[in-house]
Amino acid sequence: MRIVLVGPPGAGKGTQAAFLAKNLSIPHISTGDLFRANISRQTELGKLAKSYMDEGNLVPDEVTIAMAKDRMEQPDAVNGFLLDGFPRNVSQAEALDQALKADGVELDGVLDLEVPEDEVVKRIAGRRICRNDSSHVFHVTYSPPKKEGVCDVCDGELYQRDDDTEETVRKRLEVYHTQTEPIIDYYAAQGLVVTISALGKVDEVTKRAMDALKGQAEGREQRDEDKNDSRGDGGE
Ligand code: AP5
Ligand code: MG
Repeated sequence: MRIVLVGPPGAGKGTQAAFLAKNLSIPHISTGDLFRANISRQTELGKLAKSYMDEGNLVPDEVTIAMAKDRMEQPDAVNGFLLDGFPRNVSQAEALDQALKADGVELDGVLDLEVPEDEVVKRIAGRRICRNDSSHVFHVTYSPPKKEGVCDVCDGELYQRDDDTEETVRKRLEVYHTQTEPIIDYYAAQGLVVTISALGKVDEVTKRAMDALKGQAEGREQRDEDKNDSRGDGGE
């Protein structure tokens, strides 16, 4: 399956992606995590990305698309992937479409996580992530680590993301509304979007998401069958 996860900062994309990717046996590809890994390794890409991320702006399309494509071409992603944070504007969505078309494959669905802004603010304020791997995500109240300040998965140090300041979060939300939300209409026109509420416990949201993706896949199969039937009728 090839799925895109979309939703505002702090909606729980990374948290849900970890469970969904496991359930669906596909890799979780987060452009935010890829940039943070580059920042930790102090690569040129990391230095460039940090200057945009710290301001809450999008990293330029050219480098982002190249990085995402490179990751999607890795052997573990041949049969599918769950994209988290990519695409993030219509140009990226068009670039993704072209890349998939060149490979003769398609997206199966776009899962849109809806969450009110006051909840986003609470989630981001308490978020702590792991210094070794930013996909290890905790929350001081909602999902605290067993030992304060220490990652349950790998014993890494937990810290607050540099872009989780009040001012940057406000900017990230604005960027989400102006640049990322339009991709929901873009994909809705292709009949790919399923929207779910991301409120409630993490496992409740995962169940909602799995059900929505299943419904989406069944609807798609039905549409394909109907299309084939009508083609058959025309030929007789
Ligand atoms: P990115 O890392 O993708 O950040 P984001 O989209 O702002 O989203 P977040 O990671 O902040 O939130 P999330 O939805 O993953 O929530 P999480 O699961 O952590 O991007 C960062 C930056 O990189 C961008 O601003 C940009 O500069 C750059 N970038 C990335 N991709 C790019 C692209 N394609 N193009 C250009 N630039 C790009 O959850 C949040 C908190 O809530 C956690 O503490 C979690 O424990 C808690 N939580 C989760 N679910 C629940 C629940 N159900 N109940 C209670 N708490 C919960
Ligand atoms: Mg995330």
